[in-house]
Amino acid sequence: MRKQIILQAFDMTAAMHNAHGLWKHPESRRHREYKSLDYWMELARLLEKGKFDAVFFADVLGVYDVYGGDEAAALRDGVQVPLNDPAFVIPAMAAVTNHLSFAVTVSTSYEQPFHNARKFSTLDHLTNGRVAWNIVTSYLPNAAQNFGLEKMVKHDERYQIADEFLEVSYKLLEDSWEEDAVIADPNSGVLVDASKVHRIKHKGTYFSVEGPHVSEPSPQRTPVLYQAGTSEKGREFAARHAECVFVGGPTPEKINYYIEDIKARAEAYGRRKDEIKAFTFLQVVVAETEEEAYSKYEDIKKYWSADAAKAQYGGSTGYDLAAYENEEELFTYKHTEQGQSRAAYLTKDAARPFTVKEIHEKFSKPAEMDIFVGSPEQVADQLEDFFVRSGVDGFNLTHYITPKDLQDFVELVVPILQERGLYKKEYKEGTFREKLYNRPYLRSGHPAKQRKRS
Ligand SMILES: Cc1cc2nc3c(=O)[nH]c(=O)nc-3n(C[C@H](O)[C@H](O)[C@H](O)COP(=O)(O)O)c2cc1C
Repeated sequence: MRKQIILQAFDMTAAMHNAHGLWKHPESRRHREYKSLDYWMELARLLEKGKFDAVFFADVLGVYDVYGGDEAAALRDGVQVPLNDPAFVIPAMAAVTNHLSFAVTVSTSYEQPFHNARKFSTLDHLTNGRVAWNIVTSYLPNAAQNFGLEKMVKHDERYQIADEFLEVSYKLLEDSWEEDAVIADPNSGVLVDASKVHRIKHKGTYFSVEGPHVSEPSPQRTPVLYQAGTSEKGREFAARHAECVFVGGPTPEKINYYIEDIKARAEAYGRRKDEIKAFTFLQVVVAETEEEAYSKYEDIKKYWSADAAKAQYGGSTGYDLAAYENEEELFTYKHTEQGQSRAAYLTKDAARPFTVKEIHEKFSKPAEMDIFVGSPEQVADQLEDFFVRSGVDGFNLTHYITPKDLQDFVELVVPILQERGLYKKEYKEGTFREKLYNRPYLRSGHPAKQRKRS
């Protein structure tokens, strides 16, 4: 059988995500409806109709205020703000679906492991094992200010914190409660067997957590672990912990380089290459005919906001494009404490150096990365080619006009991928991890499984 594409909708419980300026499009519903449960339940039903594996919720904890030195541009076009907490829509989406899973971004820089473990245990119970955690260390300076810090913790130290965060999480989720701790035996009058519930007594550099965990073991115990961020430290972290990685890059070959690098590092930690699945962005503009698709694309361009795109870029990289005035100057990589893989993307990872003028031009239209425009067959061809060349296991599908673009993809592209044997016609049974890996829990070689209870 051919390797099949794993498909996730890339989303955010915000008025807008990365479709900069597209809220102005007459068919955009999300900026009005993202606050309503009906909107998210409708989306869940649509995605399950299209056999999507999951919704991938990005999340941030502040405003994008690097571009031009404040958040004015980000607020004007709603760049990932206003924004609600993604966790709360998940039970409603799960209630109207049976198979769709939910990957939620949570930052190890600002969350507490005890609280986070309880949140994921709860979601895993309520969804019957359909949750994943996208582990990020965050890049917004404003987020740091919202959590009592004057400045962000430095990039590499954020990954050290993340490592300890994961260690505490494993202790809570994997070790604290034995499998048969809840016995609910009316004869002996015991609901929970106290000898099978353990305090974790974690005392580390960044966290001190006594335990025990307060939730009982959920179907997957630890949610499926995603990670996003391919800096040196990011790849090292992914190699140790991730079951799925979200990798960006300017070409399929560069994406492939990052995937292979992460897998090689994972082997050095005693893990297997096939324990990690990789995803990248997917941008599609599809219509019944090529002509209609290009006219749709022209329409999208009309509503695009360059300022909003630059605001998002500023927050995620630390590069304030408003301050780059010399158009002939080359746009080169410089170290920042924000997102280093995004910073590398248009600089040291690019196929050739760009001038500042070219960079400004790039942000004036939605073309920072590959976009597949065309008829359903043409889009399927481009997608298949990219899938093979990059070596990814799946995609996070972005959308400009929501939910219309997702509807079009489900109606027009999904059937072609299914015919080609590239995409499933039916879901597998089981939890998210069982669907991805045919096993309920993390593998024995994973660091979550390598500690002895103290
Ligand atoms: C594809 C991709 C998606 C990301 N999604 C988010 C996100 O939703 N929220 C967030 O705070 N950070 C996100 N990040 C960035 C992470 O916070 C990351 O831990 C941090 O910026 C460091 O990344 P680096 O390893 O690329 O330097 C993402 C990064 C990448 C590459």
